[in-house]
Amino acid sequence: MRVTKHPILGNLDENPKIVNISVDDKIIPAIEGEPVASALMASGIRVMRTTPKYHHPRGIFCAIGRCTDCAMTIDGVPNVRTCVTKVRDGMKLETQEGLGKWGDKK
Ligand code: FES
Repeated sequence: MRVTKHPILGNLDENPKIVNISVDDKIIPAIEGEPVASALMASGIRVMRTTPKYHHPRGIFCAIGRCTDCAMTIDGVPNVRTCVTKVRDGMKLETQEGLGKWGDKK
């Protein structure tokens, strides 16, 4: 299942482009412009971050950018909410541990 109509990001193009993104160094297909969280769910990826103190897994919850449970490190930037971030070709996603840390931008 894909999110084709999003209250914040809008609607997907009628002729969407399939691109590749990497998640913890694994390449998965995605639709350009869809929410990153949608691409992750479509590939069976449910855990996007772990909590700082107890390392409990967290994933998509509100899907509108309010709860931060879907935060990941994207292209070296921590705490990016994947539910309100559009897929771009070649994005590099990393499961965020705790508060995350800044990495190299690519
Ligand atoms: S799922 Fe709540 S901010 Fe993304």
